[in-house]
Amino acid sequence: MINDLWYKNAVFYCLNVGTFLDTNGDGTGDFQGLMRRLDYLHGIGVDAVWLMPFQTSPQRDDGYDVADYYNVDPRYGTLGDFVEFTHAAHSRGMRVIIDLVVNHTSDQHPWFKDARSSPDSPYRDWYVWSKTKPANADQGMVFPGVQDTTWTYDEQAKEYYFHRFYDFQPDLNTANPKVQAEILKIMGFWIQLGVSGFRMDAVPFVIATKGADVTKPVEQFDMLRMFREFLQWRKGDSIILAEANVLPDTDMDYFGSDGDRMQMMFNFQVNQHLFYALAASDGRPLAKALRQTKSRPETAQWAIFLRNHDELDLGRLTDEQREKVFEEFGPEKGMQLYDRGIRRRLAPMLDGDRRRMELAYSLMFTLPGTPVLRYGDEIAMGDDLSLPERNCARTPMQWSNEPQGGFTLGSKPVLPVISGGPYGYETINVAHQRREPESFLNWMERIIRMRKEVPEIGVGDFTVLNMRDPSIFAIRYDWRNNSALFIHNLSGSPKEIVFEAGVEGEEGNVLVDVLDSGHSKADDKGKHRVVIEGYGYRWYRVGGLNYLLKRTDI
Ligand code: GLC
Ligand code: CA
Repeated sequence: MINDLWYKNAVFYCLNVGTFLDTNGDGTGDFQGLMRRLDYLHGIGVDAVWLMPFQTSPQRDDGYDVADYYNVDPRYGTLGDFVEFTHAAHSRGMRVIIDLVVNHTSDQHPWFKDARSSPDSPYRDWYVWSKTKPANADQGMVFPGVQDTTWTYDEQAKEYYFHRFYDFQPDLNTANPKVQAEILKIMGFWIQLGVSGFRMDAVPFVIATKGADVTKPVEQFDMLRMFREFLQWRKGDSIILAEANVLPDTDMDYFGSDGDRMQMMFNFQVNQHLFYALAASDGRPLAKALRQTKSRPETAQWAIFLRNHDELDLGRLTDEQREKVFEEFGPEKGMQLYDRGIRRRLAPMLDGDRRRMELAYSLMFTLPGTPVLRYGDEIAMGDDLSLPERNCARTPMQWSNEPQGGFTLGSKPVLPVISGGPYGYETINVAHQRREPESFLNWMERIIRMRKEVPEIGVGDFTVLNMRDPSIFAIRYDWRNNSALFIHNLSGSPKEIVFEAGVEGEEGNVLVDVLDSGHSKADDKGKHRVVIEGYGYRWYRVGGLNYLLKRTDI
């Protein structure tokens, strides 16, 4: 049964069609281009492609301002291209999930245009209005420093409308049954066109009570169950991956204690503490975050990631911890964003240090959940801090050392291709790394392959081992008769560590290194003694060399 839950052990890869590959020279990536790169994605070992918004949009928030939920933005192609793409993905055994942005629409959406035109509009009630400026209009902004209110006066409507995000993103009145029915219709539409589910944007806000009189929004969790039921009736194996940066004690409200709400959530708690672990060489807060987010229904799963298309939000760390991460990974003001995060890509944050990048990814692939990669990270792409807000980490994919990094034959890419310096396309590109046996790309391909050989990470029980040295982070998974153990040295200096595998009987006495030949045999007291280099990592199967023979299938 667990085997049927494809998302528990899949490798996800997130990309934006517009910055992936342009085939007609207009400077914007398109579905035709994405299709040409499906073999590349398949070759790395990607199981599911997560497409960021590609529906018709004025593109004022990278497509998170949708103006037509039932169409492909013409600059990316047509609905026909989309269906060709999902078909081509399926024929390679890959699935597609897409962003579902239904907390708000673009202010250019026909619903909003109609709603603002008259109080009698059938769409008036699809949005959230107030005749007077609500007292809390200067609270709850998602983009502090860039956005200064959550209620804006609309000249045409002669009322204020609510917007949790930018003012061109009016919030939908998601409590309205008609809006809810429309959300289901949107899901049904894309499911029919071949997607396996949705990355649902801003879930806590979608389900929150909204209105001028709401002082403390309350989540309407039943809505999640409604979405889930609808999906499962239409297509049983489709999922929702929720973007919900919430406190651990509400996790189960999102998953549903009977596993009847969201199948997946991004683990923001672990994400932030993982960066703290890397910055401070201290794994203890990460271990705590893992324990806090441990409980989840059997069918539910965490998504584990490093960087995404937004800033690295550090809002859940203590002030001191946050300062430490800023100091190590984003010391300059221009590297930070919204008073809470870092907007850089991973490689520059880690100074392009290969050892630290491998360490970070080794952690990502061995923490409990399903790994989610971001396009370009597999070749260690950099950022362009001269671009505003989050755009710095959304530059076009670097395919080769041809002009514009091989992204477009045109001269006006949608965002500038990074050129020159250590992260320019001349140095960092797929074509080059494909040929180099020791490249980061080839390392990535191999680590993904190894991750797939340890499905226990996705389905097993985990235990963080007690290590005396806080810079050593060790985690073991047990599933039926199988155990796997992963050790990371978060510090830059070599360490000799002495530990017990913690598995009953003889089994724990032999650790088989699955990445290298450094197997370990315990002494007669059952203790292993391993020397691990600075920023080093070890992936072990617990048990004899013939573990594969006795492995119980999952
Ligand atoms: C989510 C997206 C972000 C977007 C926002 C508004 O947080 O990740 O990119 O700006 O929602 O839709
Ligand atoms: Ca194009």
